Amino acid sequence: MNTVPASHLPLLRVRGVSKRYGDRVALQDASFDLWPGEVLAVVGESGSGKSTLLDAIAARSRPDAGSVQFHVRGGGLQDVFAMTEAQQRLLSRTDWGFVHQNPADGLRMDVSAGANVGERLMGLGERHYGRVRATAADWLQRVEIDPARIDDTPRTFSGGMRQRLQIARNLVTQPRLVFMDEPTSGLDVSVQARLLDLLRQLTRQMQLAAIVVTHDLAVARLLAHRMVVMQQGRVVETGLTDQVLDDPQHAYTQLLVSSVLQP
Ligand SMILES: Nc1ncnc2c1ncn2[C@@H]1O[C@H](COP(=O)(O)OP(=O)(O)O)[C@@H](O)[C@H]1O
Ligand SMILES: [Mg+2]
Repeated sequence: MNTVPASHLPLLRVRGVSKRYGDRVALQDASFDLWPGEVLAVVGESGSGKSTLLDAIAARSRPDAGSVQFHVRGGGLQDVFAMTEAQQRLLSRTDWGFVHQNPADGLRMDVSAGANVGERLMGLGERHYGRVRATAADWLQRVEIDPARIDDTPRTFSGGMRQRLQIARNLVTQPRLVFMDEPTSGLDVSVQARLLDLLRQLTRQMQLAAIVVTHDLAVARLLAHRMVVMQQGRVVETGLTDQVLDDPQHAYTQLLVSSVLQP
């Protein structure tokens, strides 16, 4: 049997994912592929199903229908929902990252910054304290946190520092795919700009694939190669970011783009 070369396979293949809450259809038949190293923005107004989609594909909640396949290291595409919980947890701790809008949801607020970053490494079996600490200090520096703060808890950090710490905690294991739900929208505008810049640098340096949920088209413009536009639980348009933003095809996308451009 012929095997498909790994480079011809998407990193993630999402097909027909749907979810309802009671009578409400939150997500209807979402499908797309994500390629290695690609940053995909999922945009749409509040309530359009972005978080429902992200939680389903990150295996944080089970959709009612559809499939999600991930290209596991050294293997082919594997059905995420057919994995055991232990396999899903391992993925979440290694090849996947998840950055929450509210950093408190993704950090342990009462342990040190160093431990927040080191924990995922130790989860992978690293037991050498000196190495864990050195790697944590290095990652603090990479996300522009003074390594002298390594023993402080995130409770003593500003919102922007917390979000950068959450990013370090997720990236320290060199994941191949990071899910982010509105990673900048809880922050002041000036802090947002710096964080976006940092995210852009890191995704490029690490050739990291990412799915970034945002209601902010400027975030999509800055970070994403491609975008998916959602309206009322459906994907209404997908395409290269610049093409979609400069020449939107669907009426809803046209409305989104024009409402941003208008003062
Ligand atoms: N846990 C839930 N229970 C009931 N309805 C929900 C729940 N989560 C989301 N919804 C509904 O599903 C729809 C999509 O929500 P969501 O995915 O959070 O949208 P977005 O992230 O784009 O703002 C909305 O109508 C929302 O009210
Ligand atoms: Mg949301």
